[in-house]
Amino acid sequence: MPAFDGPTVCVLFVCLGNICRSPMAEAVFRRLVEQAGLSGRIEADSAGTGAYHVGEQPHAGTRQVLRERGIGCTHRARVVTPDDLAHFDYIVALDRDNLYDLRTMASRTTAEIGLLLDYAPGVGLRDVPDPYYSGRFAEVYDLVEQGCRGLLEHIVAARGLRAGEGARR
Ligand code: 4NP
Repeated sequence: MPAFDGPTVCVLFVCLGNICRSPMAEAVFRRLVEQAGLSGRIEADSAGTGAYHVGEQPHAGTRQVLRERGIGCTHRARVVTPDDLAHFDYIVALDRDNLYDLRTMASRTTAEIGLLLDYAPGVGLRDVPDPYYSGRFAEVYDLVEQGCRGLLEHIVAARGLRAGEGARR
């Protein structure tokens, strides 16, 4: 018997290449969901608006910051598709360019489409800067973690979830 048989909330993180920021957010968010005992209730994935790196594992910088924090990541880069817009409940862009591209694709989605850092207004930034160009993966990790904490709080409140109700057995 599953711990809870209600609907699963599906969350998609989207950046440009799907090798730096969005797979980091996917892995961090999944860890937070596990820690909240909600793994059976909330699922996470990630995708990119560009196809430059399809099939590749995350960037070495992303893998390093995750490894240093004991967070696993098996994602392979893929492109966001129209089916994603129908399937996911929350589609979370890492910056405003990604958000613009998603909104251009998403005329008929019922998903909540937003920016990761808008779920953490205390951060005072809207875009997670791209470490592909800067190499600042540790700073990006801190932003991503704050955004993911805010996003999880938002989903828990919006969906009336209780910590521990979706722990996988
Ligand atoms: P991401 O970073 O969007 O955070 O995955 C990038 C990765 C690759 C490229 C740009 C951004 N690129 O131009 O190849």
